[in-house]
Amino acid sequence: MKIQALKLENFRNFENETFTFSDGINILAGHNAQGKTNCVEAIYFCSCLKSYRVLKEEQLIRFGAEKAEITLNFENGAGNEEMKIIFRQGRPKEFRYNGLAVSRLRDLLGCFQSVLFTPDHLNLIKEGPHKRRAFLDMALCSLDLNYTDQLLNYQKILKNRNALLRQCQSDRRQEEMLEIWDEKLAEAGSYIAEIRQNYIAALSGWARDFYCAIARKEEKLKLIYLNALTKSAVGREEYRELFLRRLARMRETDIAMGQTMSGIHKDDILILLSGKSMKFFASQGQIRSAVLAMKLAEAEAISSRQGTEPVLLLDDILSELDAHRQNFIFRRMAGRQTVLTTCELGKIRKKGEKIFFIKEGKIARTRENPG
Ligand SMILES: Nc1ncnc2c1ncn2[C@@H]1O[C@H](COP(=O)(O)OP(=O)(O)OP(=O)(O)O)[C@@H](O)[C@H]1O
Ligand SMILES: [Mg+2]
Repeated sequence: MKIQALKLENFRNFENETFTFSDGINILAGHNAQGKTNCVEAIYFCSCLKSYRVLKEEQLIRFGAEKAEITLNFENGAGNEEMKIIFRQGRPKEFRYNGLAVSRLRDLLGCFQSVLFTPDHLNLIKEGPHKRRAFLDMALCSLDLNYTDQLLNYQKILKNRNALLRQCQSDRRQEEMLEIWDEKLAEAGSYIAEIRQNYIAALSGWARDFYCAIARKEEKLKLIYLNALTKSAVGREEYRELFLRRLARMRETDIAMGQTMSGIHKDDILILLSGKSMKFFASQGQIRSAVLAMKLAEAEAISSRQGTEPVLLLDDILSELDAHRQNFIFRRMAGRQTVLTTCELGKIRKKGEKIFFIKEGKIARTRENPG
């Protein structure tokens, strides 16, 4: 996967700029608040089809403008592609792919693959389970359309079941209906659980190898899928039955609480370093290495599944890493396209293939580095 060009029109603080990226390492350099992250946000938008920074997409339109556009030209192994996203004030966003309007988002998922690593990901280990579920879902949704469908389906069923639980509080006759929702929830839930289980097992192997290489220690990083139903890995059918039994057993509590207390919406990933939970015992350095290893593992999962390397986006991460970790990343990045940002170019040990100097939403100048 290689980006050839990114054109931003009235996107955030960019009025009209085109980035022509090199196939190797691209550095966006500049002082604070100049537009470096805005550019990364636009690229990652083309993978997730939403912003990872804001919920209200109108905020992406340049102050005072009516309309913003992102145009991404890239090569994905199949050929040269163009994705265009148009944002208008007060209207839903529009997508075009190779010039044709696309109305179903799922048709675009996975077309452009990138992996993002920002300082915010360093909270992945210490914060609540929702962060780790988001990490999982972000990756799985772009890899597997059926997963995306089932996840949306599960959320819909969960909402309906919760509404019914609240009705049951005042009218017990409604309780019979719960059985239908239990069946549906267990069906979608078991599908999701199986995919999460397999994905985390694969990720764990890659992350362990990356961790050893990054930390240069014999500490073993391990990721374990944590669900409230069982401690051991089970097949889909077994999970479905366990889930149904749990829903039946918890029914009174669920009604009293007015919500479903168990299911894949409570899942977590247990992150262990040499057998100890990193959430409670890890140092800052260990966390940095572990998250980096998990992110590189995510990239590995995409390339092994899709046969194409995702573009790597490192926002404000590299200058914080010591020489050894930086060198490791540069070695890993050989042959992959990378876009990284920094406000301290002096701290980046290798200057990559192309540097864009960003100033007030403009590319002030570029520098290409031979070899
Ligand atoms: N919709 C918008 N219209 C115009 N300008 C915007 C809009 N949204 C954000 N900005 C401006 O973009 C700038 C921030 O850009 P960005 O987050 O890319 O900075 P950065 O270069 O990554 O800085 P840092 O090094 O601090 O992370 C701010 O000046 C902000 O006011
Ligand atoms: Mg930034």
